[in-house]
Amino acid sequence: MDGIAIRRCTRDELKAVMHVNELTLPENYPQFFYESILERFPESFLIAEDLAKQKIIGYIMFRVERGMEPGIKFVKKGHLVSIAVLKGYQGKKIGKQLLIEGLKRVRTYSVDIFVLEVRISNEKAITMYKRLNFKIKKTLESYYRDGENAYYMVLHAKHFKPDG
Ligand SMILES: CC(C)(COP(=O)(O)OP(=O)(O)OC[C@H]1O[C@@H](n2cnc3c(N)ncnc32)[C@H](O)[C@@H]1OP(=O)(O)O)[C@@H](O)C(=O)NCCC(=O)NCCS
Repeated sequence: MDGIAIRRCTRDELKAVMHVNELTLPENYPQFFYESILERFPESFLIAEDLAKQKIIGYIMFRVERGMEPGIKFVKKGHLVSIAVLKGYQGKKIGKQLLIEGLKRVRTYSVDIFVLEVRISNEKAITMYKRLNFKIKKTLESYYRDGENAYYMVLHAKHFKPDG
């Protein structure tokens, strides 16, 4: 990914992140939603920048939550809220690098597990998550506003192998 930098997002870059989100995903959020995640979990809110064009072309953001997880107990979760890369930059390993770097950073909040929801039709993303050892734990019926089901996927922090 020559010429692409991955680093922490700053407040004045949130508009550009929202633009990437609106161009790539049907799940969109109001500005205060991004602001609250950046304020509370800045370590794991990352952007990918095309250095030559000084353009933000991707992002990843997590929330850290406490909760029960079947078969485990009360755990601290690194919840992947959203990840996206602009169309013209997809398929160049940028998404994978954002995900690996994001997991490394959210781990610094001492989470026990990483969790996410993904549309059951999103084969590209599901393949990417499985490549990093995420497992499908259950199907969430009509999880998305348009009625599509989601897969709930989990990876234990101790099983995370950033170098594959
Ligand atoms: C999903 C997404 C973030 C992946 O980012 P990307 O930069 O295109 O993906 P990468 O080039 O880093 O590839 C990472 C992995 O994704 C999978 N992948 C990527 N492109 C793929 C394709 N065309 N077909 C199948 N799998 C694909 C592969 O497993 C790949 O790993 P590998 O090359 O080691 O096999 C990106 O496609 C995207 O932004 N999609 C729209 C938004 C979205 O769906 N976000 C996820 C919501 S849960």
